[in-house]
Parts: sequence; structure tokens; C-alpha cells
Amino acid sequence: MNPETGPQAIAPLGPDAPVILEMSHISKGFGAVTALVDVSIKLRQGEVLALVGDNGAGKSTLIKILSGFHQPDTGTITSKGKEVSFASPRDARSHGIETVYQDLALVGDLSVFHNMFLGREYKKRVLGLNLLDNQKMRELSRQYLDNLGISIPSVNSTVDLLSGGQRQCVAVARSIYASPSILILDEPLAALGVRESAHVLGLIQKLRRERNVSVILIVHNYNQIFEVCDRINFLHAGEIVFDASTSETSEEELIRIVKSGLGRKAIAAAAAEAGPLPA
Ligand SMILES: Nc1ncnc2c1ncn2[C@@H]1O[C@H](COP(=O)(O)OP(=O)(O)OP(=O)(O)O)[C@@H](O)[C@H]1O
Ligand SMILES: [Mg+2]
Repeated sequence: MNPETGPQAIAPLGPDAPVILEMSHISKGFGAVTALVDVSIKLRQGEVLALVGDNGAGKSTLIKILSGFHQPDTGTITSKGKEVSFASPRDARSHGIETVYQDLALVGDLSVFHNMFLGREYKKRVLGLNLLDNQKMRELSRQYLDNLGISIPSVNSTVDLLSGGQRQCVAVARSIYASPSILILDEPLAALGVRESAHVLGLIQKLRRERNVSVILIVHNYNQIFEVCDRINFLHAGEIVFDASTSETSEEELIRIVKSGLGRKAIAAAAAEAGPLPA
């Protein structure tokens, strides 16, 4: 494990870290499909929360509700103690919630620096005209990506020409640049090589060390969860069946729970019913 990003490098989240976001009793269906059933999650200041579950478990639906892309059928969202509702992604962003979607939402035929400032472009007035300040955006993008240690050939190149890993890094960097209070990353490590994964994990670990931004991370690799996350919520068939801090569970327990699709209590009850194992 990398000592820079390893969990030993990070102080545990204090017990008094305030809850900054709560989703309570959220349900969501799409026609005949029930995607979420009475889901409740809590996110604390500076916490990195892993959301895990099988394909189709409802992970993306849950974070799309939080990022204003979908509206829940029932349930409430409380942000910093106040009930909120997000009618659109713009609405969620105005509450400090930034999301990197599974499909990234970068514009392939625009340059890296235009993507970095998509929707929040710098403008300048020239001869009474309102023009894009490309020079400023180019310079700020270059500095910002350099500071994060993200190496791409040029901020002028179009996103289409970048590797998958570089694209992922640009998408994550763009979201961090917006200074969110909550950053949501939907499978940021999917399709990344070892080096690129380590880089994105390093960015998450940096945020975790500073404890200013709370992160919800959807990820399938349990090793990586234990490396960078404070807490795990396991979503199974639209329901949260397991919620534990990474310090009070283990990869082995998580694998057992994910395989069974049951929480701790249900596993214990099933074991009690089955009786002692034959010697
Ligand atoms: N826009 C939609 N319209 C109809 N059904 C949808 C829509 N979005 C998601 N679903 C369905 O809701 C369920 C949950 O999907 P979701 O994308 O949230 O799963 P996921 O946990 O993110 O899976 P994966 O790991 O494959 O990304 C699935 O059965 C899916 O087919
Ligand atoms: Mg998904």
C-alpha cells in the first residue's frame, strides 16, 4: 500500500464531526422498476463515504437524486440542518454539491480548459463585446492541473484525444475546482489503470486529509474502499443493508455481506437458525 495514501496517514474522523447531509426514507421507482426503497444515509463533514452494491442496486439513482438529476418519489434531503429539494443539477450545485457522473459528462470536442470552465466561463469585454477569456481559462486550468499533479499533454487538446485516465482526472479536477462542500464520484476508477487509479485515489485522500469536503464514492474494489474511505454503505436491491465505519469492519466481512446480500443481523440470525456447524 502506498504510504502517502494509506489509511495510517489520515487521522480518523472525530466523533463530533457534524452531519452535513442527510437523505431520509428515499424511495424511487421508474415505471415498474423499483430502484430505491426507504433509503436513509448520513454524511458528515469531511467524511469519505463508500457506496457499494451490485450492478443495478440503485447507487447511481441515489446520487442522481442528490445531484438534482432525479426527484425522489418519497423522502427528504436535509443539508446543513435545513430541508432542501433539488429541482435540477444547477440547484444542487448551488448548494455546493458537485458530481462526476459515471459517463463523465465532458464535452469531447472541446478543449480541456473549456471543459474545466464549462458553465462557469470567464468572459471579457472587448470593443463592447462579451467574449470568452480563453487566455485566463487556459492559464488557470494549467496551474490548477499542475497543482493537483495531473499531467496531460496540453490544456488546449480536445478531451477526445485524452486517455480514459486523463479524462477521469480532468472530470474530477473540474469538480474539485468548484470548491464543493460535497463531492460525488460515480465509479471514478472504472476503466483506469493502476497508475491512474492511484492518482485519483491520491486526490480523494488529499481531500480526506483536509476534511473540508465530504465525498460520496461509488467504487467496486474493496481494497480501494479500505484505503480511502471512512464509512461504507452497502446498497442491495434498492435498500441499505449494511452501514459501518471502515475501522469497525473488514474486507472479509464486507465480502461476506455483499455475497449474501444480507446485513450483519440477518447473517447472524440465519447462522443461528442453521445451528452449529458439524465438527
Ligand atoms: N432513467 C431510468 N429509467 C428507467 N430505469 C432506470 C433508470 N435509471 C435506472 N433505472 C433502473 O433502476 C435500477 C437501479 O439502477 P442504477 O443505475 O441506480 O444502478 P447502479 O447501482 O448504479 O448500477 P451499476 O453498478 O450498474 O452502475 C436498475 O434496475 C435500472 O435499470
Ligand atoms: Mg451506476
